[in-house]
Amino acid sequence: MMGSLFPLLLPLSLLFLGHLVNPWQCPDEPRSSSLDHNVQYDLPNYVAPKHIQDLISKDGQEPLVFMAITNHLQVLHGSDLRILQSVTTGPTNSSECSRCSQCSMGSARPDQPEDTESQVLVLDPEEDILYSCGCSLRGLCFLHQLIGAKISDSKCLFDEQENFHLLCRDCVSSPLGTLLTVVTRGYTAYFYLASSVVSRMAESYSPVSVSVRRLLSTEDGFADGFHSLMVFPQFSDSYPIRYLHTFRTEDFVYFLTVQLEELGGTAYHSRVVRLSAMEEEMRR
Ligand SMILES: *[C@@H]1O[C@H](CO)[C@@H](O)[C@H](O)[C@H]1NC(C)=O
Repeated sequence: MMGSLFPLLLPLSLLFLGHLVNPWQCPDEPRSSSLDHNVQYDLPNYVAPKHIQDLISKDGQEPLVFMAITNHLQVLHGSDLRILQSVTTGPTNSSECSRCSQCSMGSARPDQPEDTESQVLVLDPEEDILYSCGCSLRGLCFLHQLIGAKISDSKCLFDEQENFHLLCRDCVSSPLGTLLTVVTRGYTAYFYLASSVVSRMAESYSPVSVSVRRLLSTEDGFADGFHSLMVFPQFSDSYPIRYLHTFRTEDFVYFLTVQLEELGGTAYHSRVVRLSAMEEEMRR
């Protein structure tokens, strides 16, 4: 055992000594004579009117950038950042928000007008479809059909007959943060969702912590009886879970979280939650 340690120790101590004698320094870079400081760079730029809440880009013949800011969804050209389209997403009582008034929510519609702060902006992995979810209108989502460089039609993913105060299957996003990965199997899209939830939300029209929801082919909401996980209500305030990032591999969908190491503790852990991308039941 001893014998095998020495060869390891020796190079280490040599390295250390060498370091003391001759501290390593960054070599001086000669000033490049080929750099022309008089060139004026004309970079494409775009100044958002409010802070950018979500951003996603789409490659293709015409590259596009979709950007969500409070009460607006903008489509920019991917190379020169020209605004191609601006869609009003709020306030929910504004006459300019035709998408807001198109959503029939029945008694689920909130009494007060709300601003729409974006929570989710995700492209369908296969179709020319963009999904957006905000925290207004009980956290419902919109499906935007893309034709060329334009949002041609938007559908409200909410069925007024199927959503209730205590059980709202189309209430997706939380104002405290929601992540979405869309998985398609066959011709069906599944929403893999994770939301931060606290008790005051859990009392009405609450999203759940983690769920897998099947989008109905009628494009007016999600199928009933989806599998989900929820932090026990008595712990939802004392055991906050923040979802930071989501991604998918061939077989799995992942969520990166920050959560307390233990109930009542002060140390936080980062954890990776993994769900099967192949089944809608949350068995593993
Ligand atoms: C929307 O509601 C706000 C707040 O109640 C109000 O100030 C505004 O005038 C309303 N807008 C419309 C178009 O009704």
